[in-house]
Amino acid sequence: MLAVAVLAAFAGIVHAASQAYTWKNVKIGEWGGGGFVPSIVFNPSQKGLAYARTDIGGAYKLNSDDSWTPLLDFANDSTWNYWGVDALATDPVDPNRLYLATGMYTNSWDPNNGHILISTNQGASFTASPLPFKVGGNMPGRGMGERLVVDPNLNSILFFGARSGHGLYKSTNFGATWTAVSGLPNTGTYVPNPTDTSGYNSDKIGISWVTFDPTSGSSGKATPRIFVGVASNGTSNIFVSNDAGSTWSAVPGQNTQFFPHKGVFSVAEKSLYVTLSDGAGPYDGTNGAIMKYNVTSSTWTNITPVSGSNLYFGFGGLAIDAQKPGTVMVAALNSWWPDGQIFRSTDGGVTWSALWEWAGYPTLLKHYAYSDTKAPWLGPDYTVTTLGTLQIGWMMEGLSIDPFDSNHWLYGTGATILGGHDLLRWDTSHNVTLQSLADGIEETSVQSLISPPSGPTLISAVGDDGGFVHTSLTTAPTTEFQTPQWSTTADIDFAGQNPTNMVRVGTSTDGTTRQIAISSTSGSSWFEDYAIASGVAGQKVAMSASGDTVLMRAADGSIQVSQYQASFSVVSSVPNGAVIASDKVNSTVFYAASGSNFYVSTDSGHTFVKKSTIGSSTSPAKIVVHPSVAGDVWVSSDKGLFHGTNYGASFTAVSGVTQAWAFALGMPQSTGGYPSIFAAANIGGIVGYFRSDNTGSSWVQINDAAHGFGSASANCLTADPRKYGRVYIGTNGRGIFYGDIA
Ligand SMILES: *[C@@H]1O[C@H](CO)[C@@H](O)[C@H](O)[C@H]1NC(C)=O
Ligand SMILES: *[C@@H]1O[C@H](CO)[C@@H](O)[C@H](O)[C@H]1NC(C)=O
Ligand SMILES: *[C@@H]1O[C@H](CO)[C@@H](O)[C@H](O)[C@H]1NC(C)=O
Ligand SMILES: *[C@@H]1O[C@H](CO)[C@@H](O)[C@H](O)[C@H]1NC(C)=O
Ligand SMILES: *[C@@H]1O[C@H](CO)[C@@H](O)[C@H](O)[C@H]1NC(C)=O
Repeated sequence: MLAVAVLAAFAGIVHAASQAYTWKNVKIGEWGGGGFVPSIVFNPSQKGLAYARTDIGGAYKLNSDDSWTPLLDFANDSTWNYWGVDALATDPVDPNRLYLATGMYTNSWDPNNGHILISTNQGASFTASPLPFKVGGNMPGRGMGERLVVDPNLNSILFFGARSGHGLYKSTNFGATWTAVSGLPNTGTYVPNPTDTSGYNSDKIGISWVTFDPTSGSSGKATPRIFVGVASNGTSNIFVSNDAGSTWSAVPGQNTQFFPHKGVFSVAEKSLYVTLSDGAGPYDGTNGAIMKYNVTSSTWTNITPVSGSNLYFGFGGLAIDAQKPGTVMVAALNSWWPDGQIFRSTDGGVTWSALWEWAGYPTLLKHYAYSDTKAPWLGPDYTVTTLGTLQIGWMMEGLSIDPFDSNHWLYGTGATILGGHDLLRWDTSHNVTLQSLADGIEETSVQSLISPPSGPTLISAVGDDGGFVHTSLTTAPTTEFQTPQWSTTADIDFAGQNPTNMVRVGTSTDGTTRQIAISSTSGSSWFEDYAIASGVAGQKVAMSASGDTVLMRAADGSIQVSQYQASFSVVSSVPNGAVIASDKVNSTVFYAASGSNFYVSTDSGHTFVKKSTIGSSTSPAKIVVHPSVAGDVWVSSDKGLFHGTNYGASFTAVSGVTQAWAFALGMPQSTGGYPSIFAAANIGGIVGYFRSDNTGSSWVQINDAAHGFGSASANCLTADPRKYGRVYIGTNGRGIFYGDIA
């Protein structure tokens, strides 16, 4: 019953046919870490219109039921850096227009320049305007903002503040083209760590925000007064233009001790509010201030809510209530202990009240109740224990009050979006309801997936959130992996003939828990494997078919083996950094690949022998073994996909596949047939996701223009041995998708 498109032959390249698939997120829900939401922006003109941007998982649009819809799932292997969104602007004049500044890194990790993605239909579709430099959606200072703004009086004009010293850019045609703006005295000279050879911390953060004073102009004409904040240390870092950006000067009397993170203009008060921190964020901050600039009197007032020893954090998130002049909220950046903190003032910052205060150490007087109705798995006393018992959050740079509803507020944390619908109770009973309001946001970085033949259909190894047993794909798991609980699980495997037995490997070197864990209960319970020394981190792991042996690749690249939980020992007969796998039937057999060489062990991983070559491969990606036929082995690499049925003695290249990354064997199309093969691969010049039901003789492409899954080489996948056609794709920033034949 295949709805397969016609085979197209073009210039001698045979393109794979395509087949319609239905793609959905496996529901994890944002919690526990790894889902930084740097900013949430409400449109000031259309009720209920708001967007959130993330650093590795694209942007989302808010729905009326508090859920979020992803906007950038079309990003594919060539446009993966769209998932790093460094700034977001929603047009105050024409709310249908939305702009995103995209690009992941300004260092070598991302070879691509940035783009301004332009939508005229609130994110339903975009056109991309290329920028002549990189954009860093996952770089230091990504919580500052917004760097991208639409002129509220003449919406064809936009400004974008670049990183890396590239300065200020302007568009006069709705973002289609951009030109450099001259005259800004300082485009931001601060670099977090000049000695970082990776380039990640040694690049200039540059311009941190651009804010219009709408009252300085009138509708239909370019707004004259524009403020710009930059990341510079110890010098003026807030500048103003009074002639629509032609000339610029430092705003006199400003704070030069800290970095300005946000600049929000209150039209009613004709004043600019600025949050400042002594670090660029999002992780740092031990001091800071809130400054308010009265445009009429040209004076700054320091309105910092706390001082002295109570001021042990900087400030990030900044919101004003558009309906209530003088109502302003700010978020600590970062109060790591005892919890995050938020302050609110209703008199323009003269007096403040806090979300919690000490009620005699160590008791906190919480001016909030936690409601779990939108995220029952969090429980009424939700806390994130991996970072201490933080409930309110950390990395709080995005804080917003709905301009049409003074009760509705949202803020982003390092893990989720929180907020509520009864904010005005802060001013009456001083007790608000805090809710997780991140339904629909899936921002995890997935490291590895397994779908064993029995027990739960899916088990994930996840960055920052540990990993999960997914007993349901549509309901969030009640807990991440426990005892041991790790921040990041790098890999997971099960015993082919004893599939309730599993192993996972973690990446921490802090020595608090051992980084190999074993389960004999399909992942519902785990124990630390004392075979591994404390403090040794891992990368990859394979379990023998019977479950008695664990082979792992440690963080230093060495391959190490442990049988019957004896101490791990280094396997010197296989090169460091090799790709490893176990035979799923024959318990003494393991496989490894490095460069073009393929290695086999027939003594439970203790020694390996080079058996064959996998074409001219220089970087093998994955070895996958038939679930029920010993010695039937597949290898993906930079040179294609290779298959052999003789315990690695020889391989044949699969015709037409020129590159392959993650792949998996799933349920056969017909009972007793060969498993379906799913692969992230380059077939006929198309990098996509493909399935073959005939051992690789022909393929159908199963992803479509709306589902690109970001960077192919960064993703993992597994296929369901119990449901024909079902594949799971783990992404780097958009959680896990499952796909079924439509
Ligand atoms: C700003 O300064 C002007 C002139 O001194 C004053 O009248 C106005 O009340 C001030 N605005 C605020 C919000 O304090
Ligand atoms: C800013 O400069 C001051 C004075 O040189 C220095 O003490 C401080 O560490 C600098 N801040 C950062 C974040 O580098
Ligand atoms: C706020 O309400 C919650 C739930 O009723 C309660 O637990 C908490 O003690 C209240 N906080 C204060 C300061 O009254
Ligand atoms: C498993 O592999 C070993 C080593 O190659 C071989 O001696 C043995 O016969 C195999 N066992 C089975 C059941 O195929
Ligand atoms: C990736 O996406 C871009 C832009 O959305 C599109 O032009 C391109 O054809 C896509 N590439 C593949 C291989 O689908």
